[in-house]
Amino acid sequence: MSQQPFRAVGRPIPRIDGLEKVTGRARYVTDLVIPGMAHAKVLRSPYAHSRVRKVDVTRARAHPGVLAALCGADLTWCEPYYGPAYRDRPVLAIDVARYEGEPVAAVAAVDEATADEALDLIEVDYDPLPPVMTLEEALSPGAPRVHTGKPQAGHFADLASLRPVPGTNVCHQFHFARGDSGRALASADLVLDETYRFPPVQHVALEAHAAVAVWSETDGLTVWASTQNPYSVRVELAKMFGVPLARIRVVVPHLGGGFGSKTYAKLEPLAAALARVAGRPVRLAASVAEAFQTVRRCCARVHVRVGFRRDGGLVAVECGADYDVGAYADIGPRVVQKATYTATGPYRVPDVTLDARAVYTNTTPGGAFRGFGVPQLAWALESLFDVAAERLGRDPVELRRQNFLAHGEEFAPGDTPIDGKLEESLGRAAETIGWTQTGAADRGRGVAAMLKASVAPSVSEAIVRLHTDGSVTVLASAVEMGQGTRTVLAQIAAEVLSVPMARVIVVQPDTAVTPYDQTTSSSRSTAMTGRAVQVAAEDVREQLLHVTAAELGVAVTDLALDDGSVVTPGRRLTYAEVLMLRFGMSGGEIIGRGVVAPGRTAAPLGGSTPFWEVAVGAAEVSVDEETGALRVERYVSVADVGRAINPLLLEGQDEGGVVQGLGHTLFEEMLYQDGHLLNGTLLAYRVPRADDAPPALECRFVENADGSGPFGAKGAGEGSLIPVSPAVANALARLTGVRLRDLPLTPERVWRALRARGRR
Ligand code: MOS
Repeated sequence: MSQQPFRAVGRPIPRIDGLEKVTGRARYVTDLVIPGMAHAKVLRSPYAHSRVRKVDVTRARAHPGVLAALCGADLTWCEPYYGPAYRDRPVLAIDVARYEGEPVAAVAAVDEATADEALDLIEVDYDPLPPVMTLEEALSPGAPRVHTGKPQAGHFADLASLRPVPGTNVCHQFHFARGDSGRALASADLVLDETYRFPPVQHVALEAHAAVAVWSETDGLTVWASTQNPYSVRVELAKMFGVPLARIRVVVPHLGGGFGSKTYAKLEPLAAALARVAGRPVRLAASVAEAFQTVRRCCARVHVRVGFRRDGGLVAVECGADYDVGAYADIGPRVVQKATYTATGPYRVPDVTLDARAVYTNTTPGGAFRGFGVPQLAWALESLFDVAAERLGRDPVELRRQNFLAHGEEFAPGDTPIDGKLEESLGRAAETIGWTQTGAADRGRGVAAMLKASVAPSVSEAIVRLHTDGSVTVLASAVEMGQGTRTVLAQIAAEVLSVPMARVIVVQPDTAVTPYDQTTSSSRSTAMTGRAVQVAAEDVREQLLHVTAAELGVAVTDLALDDGSVVTPGRRLTYAEVLMLRFGMSGGEIIGRGVVAPGRTAAPLGGSTPFWEVAVGAAEVSVDEETGALRVERYVSVADVGRAINPLLLEGQDEGGVVQGLGHTLFEEMLYQDGHLLNGTLLAYRVPRADDAPPALECRFVENADGSGPFGAKGAGEGSLIPVSPAVANALARLTGVRLRDLPLTPERVWRALRARGRR
């Protein structure tokens, strides 16, 4: 049959949960009410580093209305440690508290006020220890140790190779080399050797972490959780409580933002432990201030040496990156190795030496945050590209173009060949921002590019059910956290089965109902979960076609699906009629199954990336030389998405990514002094507001249908954030001659640099 035009794919369909959200009717974890539910509160360490000699919860436990009061020493009946990389994080501090804000004791009571009162009755005997608050302190010889015990491995196969450095605060180191970078740099015409810094920042999802846990004799443990990966949380809880996976149910309602902060177990272990002891459902909801005490982005110090030939060819990169993962590893080791593997960005580099360390400090644990370690490295490399362009007398756009990996070119042996057209993205960005190469006109404009791998190997499964009236239920476990995945999955099913969007329901994740999906992160849901939904829907289509072919005595190849019917020249059977033929009654359903599991490969990290995320940013800035205030007047983001399943939602994601990237570029930073976090509240910690967005912000997409996802799609959503800092800093350098190497580019930093320039 001839190709039908797309009915749902490629259309700017408004998000299916939009109305519910803008009217305030959408229900999140904290809106959940269960009869008999108790409310939990957490007592947190006031010290950055302290021995915890004794925690006495007796008075709290005896307080009227209190149903459970726990400290670390009480958790003898379960495995009290958790963590995806190392099981190094206790549910409640055991013997030592390793950062300010670490949970030390917790109470569940009839209401929040009673739980708060009970916290005041807990006595803790602290014996403060010297903390290490920065990479420099943590790496200095003889530094106090954040952890002294032997780490236990978490649940990742690809992290079985975790390599802590004994006797130090280094919890993992990663090394990757190809060729001989030392020799290549020795013979390079231009060698640049610089160090860049990226600050600790918090995700500031408007919904902070929350969990409601309930135990039942029959069903085991159920947790409603604000998590990006219910299946990882299920593994942690099963291990903690020694319960089979099938007896742990993790249900995920709407999420009010994630950005990586809700990957892996966060509050769920504590909520579940309290519920077990209280014998009641327990609700544990963090405040935004407590989110600052739960997870943040790993700050980093990145030392890069790059070598160029006189003709602009990039010959070698050496990168030494230290990431501060805070007091507990969380997913930090994987952030560090995954990002460092792509430290050379989207460029062809013959000789490479990459080294990275994940370093413990006595600060909030550092984990996943949009970009997964790449923004820290791209900040250095993309700034250096412009420094090199200036030294070589080259146009920064041209210098990048010269060194880009080509479509189909190998990134590393065994890994996926480059599936994007970088020169097309850069060309679009340069054209849109009005780049002319003529010097004066381009002052105040800067560009940056990026390349990011997605998690591999990874698994997504989906089930699609076609009902007797031709409506469709999609079961998949991709978490809707504002990015629009429910809408996109519905579009894919609607497309394959040729039904209207209104007849497709995408069920929210529930490990008792929706099948396995590894994680909603790494920009993977459209490509991986979406592909699983496509395969499952195609399975339904095949069954429809076979039933019809047998009934009508025609070949399957003579049939097609069209608007809720199976059609062949001259005949048309509605899905209801086909199901009637199949089941002999009005009942039953056709069930389709989709499994996407590329498995392990010979690629350096053990799995080939399912797609390469590629994006380019171009910024135009102005600066107030009196105050140092930097303003991004215009920003263009171009992402190579293969195919835009939903251009409207993509645009929303990339606009969000750019504005979030402006946060750490211009002003965001978690500030510590004397072991205390100074600005861990929404009042003191400023994230970008609407009036911080560039007056002109344009998001464009390159679509060559060359992705491995459904209809040629690739992942998107993180890429737009990554080039923001270097694009803005490059624009500032071209405007003023001032090159800054530490983020954020605060007015004070810019002003001091302008003054220093003036004096030279
Ligand atoms: Mo993300 S940082 O892959 O949720």
